[in-house]
This record gives sequence, structure tokens and C-alpha cells, in this order.
Amino acid sequence: MQREQLVTEIKSLMALVDDKTTDLADSVMEIDVREYYDPGQFEREKIELFRNYPQFVGPSCMIPEPGDYFAFDDTGIPILVVRNQERELRAFVNICSHRGAPLNECESGKAKNGRLFSCPYHGWSYDLEGSLVGVPFGKQGFDSIDRATLGLKPLQVEEKDGMIFVMPNPDRRFDIDEVLGGIGQRLSGFGFEDHYYLGSKQVHTDFSWKLNMDTFHEYYHFEFLHPETIGQMAYSNLATYHQYGRNHSMGSATLQINELKEISEDEWNPRAYSSYVNYIFPNTVIFVVEDHFQTWRVYPISPDRSVVYHSMFLPQEPENAQQRQEYEDYFQMINDVAVAEDYSLVDKINRGVNCGIERKVLVGRNEPGVQNMHRQLHELLGRE
Ligand code: FES
Ligand SMILES: [Fe+2]
Repeated sequence: MQREQLVTEIKSLMALVDDKTTDLADSVMEIDVREYYDPGQFEREKIELFRNYPQFVGPSCMIPEPGDYFAFDDTGIPILVVRNQERELRAFVNICSHRGAPLNECESGKAKNGRLFSCPYHGWSYDLEGSLVGVPFGKQGFDSIDRATLGLKPLQVEEKDGMIFVMPNPDRRFDIDEVLGGIGQRLSGFGFEDHYYLGSKQVHTDFSWKLNMDTFHEYYHFEFLHPETIGQMAYSNLATYHQYGRNHSMGSATLQINELKEISEDEWNPRAYSSYVNYIFPNTVIFVVEDHFQTWRVYPISPDRSVVYHSMFLPQEPENAQQRQEYEDYFQMINDVAVAEDYSLVDKINRGVNCGIERKVLVGRNEPGVQNMHRQLHELLGRE
């Protein structure tokens, strides 16, 4: 958001504080509890949401330079995204044409000499356009192959408003503007192009990816579940809500926001008094805090198992080892709060979900973010 938008948002938040309310949905929503564990629904979600729907990969700054790559295989299709010499992105199915090994050895890094992927199994190599350019012992061992047909299978990848999206299914195309639904305009100004990628943490959870996502979409639980942590920093049950296509963005106020009433508006530092949960359908939250942002990407494994990747992006590279350690400690602390407070509670919710009692899950008017995710799922999966 640019300053003018941030100031407007701050005013909305201050009005919510004064009125002791929050942005509201039109009505209470009911979700059939079976949606959280039904194996048939789970299979449809894996195909329609994670194979046939464009996936948020990361902000542009995660792979900023030619040769930088990022690989993940949590959608069911191994994917390799790389920035080529012209600084454009390319994406491929990450399966070597020889016997199928993935080409990367780390989740992210730099291609060999910034220009080649060399398969770790038998050394076949590919350039950044995915063409097969090297086959060790090829003249004898593979004398009959047509190398021109054995490049990596391309995937559609798009980069816009500082965000990278890829379509896992090689036979599908997508329209980036339709996927963004205009949320890029709201997110501009947060510096997705030029932050420093500190790293990612992987957390495996023994509950549905949707129970996992539900925890990010409302501020109703802060004072009850996080009384000593987040509840000491931000207002509970108070947030602005904005819809962008299938995505949404919510603003939250720090407990000190009324200090701004004593400061003239042109001296406000709005980022110091607000934070933003930005939902990118179906599985990503970009959490923008005062001077940095984090992403949380959640993927299904089975109806009651999921994995989340929590990534940290800083305004600049740490200047020394001590500063790096301070950021690492902060990163760990945030991750620990989510695991210790949110995820340990959701573990218990999951037992109730799977115990065979039929019921409706209720989502209040004060939880429009949770409602949106489920409404979009219903629409896309054809249940409404
Ligand atoms: S599997 Fe890649 S070179 Fe053999
Ligand atoms: Fe929480």
C-alpha cells in the first residue's frame, strides 16, 4: 500500500476501535464438518486447487538474480522455477528426462555457474530455458535419442506486482490478472521486489490443510488463545476486510493506535500501528508487519495431514552475524508461537472433526476471512 492508502486504512482501524467493532460479513456461515475430512472432497481439492489452479510461489525477491531458482513438489507435481539471463522467469516440471530425478539439490539456490542445471544422478544438464545440453557418455550410451525433444517440460509462470505464480498442470493456462483480482494494487509499496529472503521453516501438522488455513483468517481468537503474545500487541476481534477476486486482505491495529490522535496526520508512520494478513487463494498468507513480511504456504498431504512453509523476508540483508542471529531468533519465536498456541489447539479440534459426530462448523459475521476461503472453495469445487 502506498502512504495515502495506509493512512485511509489507519483511519478505518481507529473508527473500528472507537466503535468497538470489526468489519462484518452479511450473515453467519455454516460449514458441514465432513468437508474437513471427506476423502472424496480431499481428492477434488488436490486436483482443482493444487494441480489445476495457479500457485503462489513467493515474492519476486526470493529469486532476484539470473540463475536463482526455487523448487517445490508439494502440489503433487515437482516444480522448478528459475530466473533466466534476461531476468525473466521460467518454470518446468522438475523431472529429468533420463530417469526422472529432480534437478535441484536444495529448495532454493543458484544454478551451476548461474546458467545450468546438472542432474545429481547421472549428470545430464539443462540450460535455463530447459533445453537438454549435456549427456555424459552420450555418444555411445544414448546414440539414438533426439535431444531436441528431451528438454524439461515447461509450465506457465507469471510475475506481477512483485509476486510469482505457477500453474502446476502443464496442460493448463491462467490469466494472472484474474488470479490477482486486483490485490497487487493493495500490496504495492510493501517491497515484494526488493526484500532479503532470510529462509523458510517447514512444519508438519496432523490436521487438514483447511483447519491450518482457518487459523490465519480471523482476529477473534487473539485475546483468548494468545493472551500473553499477540494479544499483548494487537486488538482482538478488530480488523478491516477487503475482497480482491478470490483473495482478501485484512488490516489489524496495534494496541497503541490511538497514540496517533496526538500526532498530526502528515507525521504518522502507519506501518508502526498496523499489520496486514493478505490471503492469496487457495493456500497462502502474506503477513505484512511493521518493517518486514512473512509468507505462510500450506499444502495438503492427506485429509488429516498438511505441511506449512513459513518464510521470512527482511527489508535488507543483515549487516553482521549478530544481527542475522537476532532476526533468526525473532523468526523462530514467531514460528514457535504458531506451533505452540495455534497448532496445538488445532490438533485438538482435529480430534473432534474426525470423531464421527455430524455437525455444522459456525463462522461468525466477525470472521469474514474464514468465510471467504470456504465460499471460494465451495464455488470452485461446485458445491454452491
Ligand atoms: S536421472 Fe537425471 S541424469 Fe539420470
Ligand atoms: Fe492465532
